[in-house]
Amino acid sequence: MPEGKLAGRVALVTGASRGIGRAIALRCAGEGAAVAINYLSGPEPVQGKDNHADASALVEEIKRRGGRAIAAEADVSNGEQVSRMVARIDAELGTVDVLINNAGIETIVPFLEMDEQQYQRVLDVNLKGEWLCAQAVVRRLVAEGQPGAIVNIASIQSGMALPGRSHYAPSKRGVEALTRNLAVELAPYRIRVNCINPGLIATDMTDWVMKDEQILPIILDKIPLRRAGEPDEIAQVAIFLASGDASYVTGQCIYVDGGWIVT
Ligand SMILES: NC(=O)c1ccc[n+]([C@@H]2O[C@H](COP(=O)([O-])OP(=O)(O)OC[C@H]3O[C@@H](n4cnc5c(N)ncnc54)[C@H](O)[C@@H]3O)[C@@H](O)[C@H]2O)c1
Repeated sequence: MPEGKLAGRVALVTGASRGIGRAIALRCAGEGAAVAINYLSGPEPVQGKDNHADASALVEEIKRRGGRAIAAEADVSNGEQVSRMVARIDAELGTVDVLINNAGIETIVPFLEMDEQQYQRVLDVNLKGEWLCAQAVVRRLVAEGQPGAIVNIASIQSGMALPGRSHYAPSKRGVEALTRNLAVELAPYRIRVNCINPGLIATDMTDWVMKDEQILPIILDKIPLRRAGEPDEIAQVAIFLASGDASYVTGQCIYVDGGWIVT
């Protein structure tokens, strides 16, 4: 029998082929959960990535370490694909009782230049995608009378105003509101819902910042811990929120940002 804080649980981590999602999936497996590695195979802003290959390699890595995992393709903004994916995970691993809503995209487009499609895609993936995955997972949990935990990934940008984010920031503010609403509505079913607001974390999404010799020092100057975070530093908090360690925590949004939000 697996041991760990998530032993016997089935975790679905969305957007887990790389970055923060990958780190969370590895930690979930390390804590004894069977893990579904969701990935998107279609086009997205980070070019040159083979998400299918990356997700498959992660599955193999988890198996090598003695864990259970499957790769689960779906665009989280597509309700039919999400339903099919959750049904497949149910058949192959069991009922999902830990959902990490991590998949997200960020583009930077000045408000005056942004078209409706650019706005809609970011809202569809970042906000509707979390709603769709939560509903597909929770309907099964409620039907079976099982408890569960959902961890939504928002962003420090939910409460900030940075140029070119008139779609991204509202989508992440929406994730906070979704978290609080679901926490209240799902508490009677013993399903806890919390949210993490990462600050600057070194991933493909922020690669351009990390390489920008002018912008990076300006941002680091605002972060009391004076550095970017690592994906695993988000994963550790996600495990806390998903596990029994956080049994009395629901409806919370926790900043994991090196102190940036308080400056
Ligand atoms: N990196 C940061 O500094 C930072 C800060 C705040 C919030 N976040 C949030 O953390 C989450 C993870 O970001 P990251 O930094 O690891 O970025 P990333 O670009 O490395 O990873 C994002 C993942 O989401 C997947 N994805 C994108 N659209 C998808 C879709 N429609 N369906 C399924 N998967 C999809 C991508 O394929 C990728 O695996 C995102 O929600 C992001 O908004 C990141």
